[in-house]
Amino acid sequence: MTVSLGMPALPSTRETLPPRPLGEDGLLDRFGRVATDLRISLTDRCNLRCTYCMPAEGLPTQPANQLLQADEIGRLTRIAVQELGVRQVRFTGGEPLLRKDLVDIIAACAALEPRPEISLTTNAIGLSSRAAALAAAGLDRINVSLDTVHAATFLQVTRRPFLERVLAGIDAASAAGLTPVKINAVLLRGVNDDQAADLLAWSLERGHQLRFIEQMPLDADHAWERDTMITAAEIRGRINERFRLEPDEAPRDGAPAELFKVFSPSGGPSLGLVGIIASVSEAFCADCRRTRLTAEGGVRSCLFSHTETDLLGPLRSGASDAELADLWRSAMWAKPAGHGLDTGDFVQPERTMSAIGG
Ligand code: 5AD
Ligand code: SF4
Repeated sequence: MTVSLGMPALPSTRETLPPRPLGEDGLLDRFGRVATDLRISLTDRCNLRCTYCMPAEGLPTQPANQLLQADEIGRLTRIAVQELGVRQVRFTGGEPLLRKDLVDIIAACAALEPRPEISLTTNAIGLSSRAAALAAAGLDRINVSLDTVHAATFLQVTRRPFLERVLAGIDAASAAGLTPVKINAVLLRGVNDDQAADLLAWSLERGHQLRFIEQMPLDADHAWERDTMITAAEIRGRINERFRLEPDEAPRDGAPAELFKVFSPSGGPSLGLVGIIASVSEAFCADCRRTRLTAEGGVRSCLFSHTETDLLGPLRSGASDAELADLWRSAMWAKPAGHGLDTGDFVQPERTMSAIGG
């Protein structure tokens, strides 16, 4: 079943979808893209309240029995990997560390043949005591959301005084060999946009790979404005105040981050890499390889979809693997060409990043 999320649809080609070719077994869409990268949100809850994501008072959350259980995640992941050609699985949220069964979920994923690459996007709160167990269970890589290394700014962005816990979590991830730790940062005008070079210096000193992400309109408060967003070009300018950047020649290979080698203006060897994810100003929708599962078991073909295809209901009422795989293929066949963020016809999805899964 495809449920509408109650938003006016983008000019939709839904009614006029060309038929899906039979005999195709991967997650192909009508524009020829094939999704091999699965993002699964494990919970819609979070222990931070980042202003670009959640409202101060939080959001209503789903009851636990409406969320995918560990065995259901295991089954859907197996179908994705064995029937649908998924090669990379990323667990996200909300905050995935809030799931007590995270180690079991990762271990089950790591036992799949062929074994997918497994990564986690987290705010790192509570990671310090769990990083080693997650790595032992088969976690390959980790992305930590961190927008500032200044405690006062951290409180302003996340509305919680937990910077020290996040930093301890990052240290533990490094110690557990989840390296290089990737740091995801969103710059907000007048809040932390003057800290881009500070955050980069901090990351380079520790061997972490920092990636700046242009802010997308996925906030509960609907406060995003194209005109005040910090663009990729502006981020490069901020970094250039203290460093010199050179484009990295390695092929981008569908990755959303454009990578740059970082140098000191006074010369010397490269200090490391920095990534810039220009999700809005230089959209990479044409190369998108993603498919998403929400914490309630809905397939979203795009972060900005206005529809979801429920898999949890069919799964709980006895659908076969082949039926679930087919529902998933149909959901992806309808994937929109792009989000339209840089054109006038964009309509913000009702769900926030915490509910969709980053
Ligand atoms: N725009 C850009 N990035 C966002 N994230 C959360 N909300 C937004 C937004 N509106 C980031 C988080 C996290 C990743 C999953 O997405 O910082 O690192
Ligand atoms: Fe939580 Fe991530 Fe949303 Fe921040 S961006 S409130 S860490 S889900």
